[in-house]
Amino acid sequence: MSISIDPSGQSCGATLTGVDLATDLSPVDIETIKHALFEHHVICFPGQHLCDSDLERFGGQIGPLGPDPYLGHIDGHEHVVEIVREADENSAIHAEVWHSDWSFLPDPPEVSVLYGITIPDEGGDTLFANQRMALAQMPADLRSKVLELTATHSAKDAYSYQGIYGTEEARKSSSIDIRPSETAMETEPHPLVMNHPHTGMQALFGCLGYIIALEDKGYIEGLKLLMELREWQTRDEFIYRHKWQPDMLVMWDNYSVLHRATGGYEGQPRKLHRVTVSTVE
Ligand code: SIN
Repeated sequence: MSISIDPSGQSCGATLTGVDLATDLSPVDIETIKHALFEHHVICFPGQHLCDSDLERFGGQIGPLGPDPYLGHIDGHEHVVEIVREADENSAIHAEVWHSDWSFLPDPPEVSVLYGITIPDEGGDTLFANQRMALAQMPADLRSKVLELTATHSAKDAYSYQGIYGTEEARKSSSIDIRPSETAMETEPHPLVMNHPHTGMQALFGCLGYIIALEDKGYIEGLKLLMELREWQTRDEFIYRHKWQPDMLVMWDNYSVLHRATGGYEGQPRKLHRVTVSTVE
């Protein structure tokens, strides 16, 4: 059986069927999946029955699995992190701000893979914003301001001991195994506009959040531009809203999209397992 690809009809995203991700995939299937990922940026596979070893094996067929700083891994699976929120939890929704995963690392991961285990009846969608499209459609005046800029990325506002997830109070109220560290204070420069490592296509990389400043700009000037930019980057026309089902796997290209979690499922549990692929091979 060959893989079928059904585009979402939104700014990005496609559903792939006709493949069992628990098996060792054929080279043709792996190529089809990578090609679909680079074309649609976010691809989902409903009806997959995967244990954590399957999830790691699938990710490993796309490329080497990477680090997940500041999150603990589940027992026996050093690459699987659990994104979980219990029904009675009052913590802030984790990752509800726009970001590209671990963009503050020297080599940010190319791909994230998330598998839905417990999915609420409503709410808990993941939003994606197509950053190739956001750059391509950007008004000339804004584009001329951002093209050559270098952004300073850092995890400090999220995972330092003072960060939104790192304080003792935040950790106590969250079911996610968060491991704050002083290393979160470090910074890493990346161009604001990047050539995609595989397709060469230009896209905006990251946004205000993990981006804390712009090189060669004063703090206020940089912040104003980053706010203006994030507003553009996340306009409705660039968004794909992903609705989860249990046993659905979603993977996305961190160099082409921003993403964020959403709430709206109070009183219901939500649990997903994630692996991160450093680079597509
Ligand atoms: C993430 O940012 O990896 C989590 C997204 C989600 O929970 O919807």
